[in-house]
Amino acid sequence: MLLTASRLSKVLQLTLAVIKPDAVAHPLMLEALHQRILDNKFVIVRCKDLVWRRQDSERFYAEHSERFFYQRLVEFMSSGPMRAYILAREDAIRHWRELMGPTKVFRARYTSPASIRAQFGLTDTRNTTHGSDSVESAQREISFFFPDFCADEWLEKEEPSFRSGRMHYDHHSQIHTLSAPS
Ligand code: RTP
Ligand code: MG
Repeated sequence: MLLTASRLSKVLQLTLAVIKPDAVAHPLMLEALHQRILDNKFVIVRCKDLVWRRQDSERFYAEHSERFFYQRLVEFMSSGPMRAYILAREDAIRHWRELMGPTKVFRARYTSPASIRAQFGLTDTRNTTHGSDSVESAQREISFFFPDFCADEWLEKEEPSFRSGRMHYDHHSQIHTLSAPS
């Protein structure tokens, strides 16, 4: 049996990435972060700009409701536009979190100076980006931001083509799309 490249490589994993309001407020920073995603070989499956109401913020961060930073986090995340992505890559969850660096900006600057939070983060709350921390939270968070997206269907119908590289980056929509069969 012939083993194609897509059979030999690992299945692409999906994760949810968010560019938070502190970064979206600065167009050049937003552009640099988008480029960083491309440079790090993520497939951009979906990309959406949005603004949260306070209730969205409270619901998304409900797990932190007892923490001292909850109020300021909820306020910050509904303070202005943000950008959400569905990203795909082998080990996407781990790679995106690695690229973000530690939550705390001072720690990020000290231990991972090349990371996004080290380079762009302002404070422990205004720390530029979010990334899902497990397969379960990626599923939940993708549905939260993209309720019409069906991950199972994408994995079944589109993932093999993306994995084998039959795709291109569309500069207009700023996402990757499958190339038409030749
Ligand atoms: P995230 O969920 O945003 O990807 O970040 P994370 O897993 O690295 O951090 P987590 O502990 O889940 O905290 C969620 C978000 O809360 C804000 N935060 N503020 N001391 C503080 O002021 C503080 N600590 C956490 C950050 O925005 C963090 O990303
Ligand atoms: Mg978290």
